[in-house]
Amino acid sequence: MNIGNLLLLIRNHRSCRAYLPGKKISDEIIRSCLEAARLAPSACNRQPWRFVIVRNPEMIRRITDGGLLPGIGMKWLADASAIAVLCAKTDAKVHWLAPILSGVQYHLVDLGIAGEHFCLAAEAQGLGTCWIGWFKGKTVAKMLGIPRGIQPVALIAAGYPLESREPTPRRELAEIAFAERWGGKIAEAPSSSDSQ
Ligand SMILES: Cc1cc2nc3c(=O)[nH]c(=O)nc-3n(C[C@H](O)[C@H](O)[C@H](O)COP(=O)(O)O)c2cc1C
Repeated sequence: MNIGNLLLLIRNHRSCRAYLPGKKISDEIIRSCLEAARLAPSACNRQPWRFVIVRNPEMIRRITDGGLLPGIGMKWLADASAIAVLCAKTDAKVHWLAPILSGVQYHLVDLGIAGEHFCLAAEAQGLGTCWIGWFKGKTVAKMLGIPRGIQPVALIAAGYPLESREPTPRRELAEIAFAERWGGKIAEAPSSSDSQ
């Protein structure tokens, strides 16, 4: 894959909140998305992610009706073909002791990387996805028999997009990235005439 294709995949990957109801995602596609997640890097290679893949429409409905926090209308979740429940299995040394010294919650970083690998693999196969952080972790854990000590951190909705998605805005590069030290200007992209 060249960088152009990779950037195109990333650029087209926008949150999908409208799915073709009733369309199933094959085992093969789910496995490939999980494989992409499984290969993610993690702090001390602890691989703290665990995924529960829900494809039963009844359970998707139950999560939509009872597992989301109020305030954002997310009824569209009921039409998703799958919900990946992204959970953390934490380790005392790396995930609790080390953050006391560094201030960084490594397991959340790790889960973010693995979850996004999952999303990009899904997107590459024609699916749309949407991260959901505004959900009731304990309620969803209970619905799915997730044991104590395993923390649901996010849901990822997946399904076949019903409509094309408009790009959402992003901050300019100059606002988010610096060269050498805070405030240093990142080189501008060469204009097409410069590169000839
Ligand atoms: C950790 C995380 C939690 C999110 N939680 C929700 C959510 O609860 N509900 C929702 O509709 N979108 C949620 N989103 C999607 C964001 O709103 C979306 O990525 C952002 O607005 C940028 O839009 P885009 O993905 O379409 O480019 C979440 C995204 C992330 C990364």
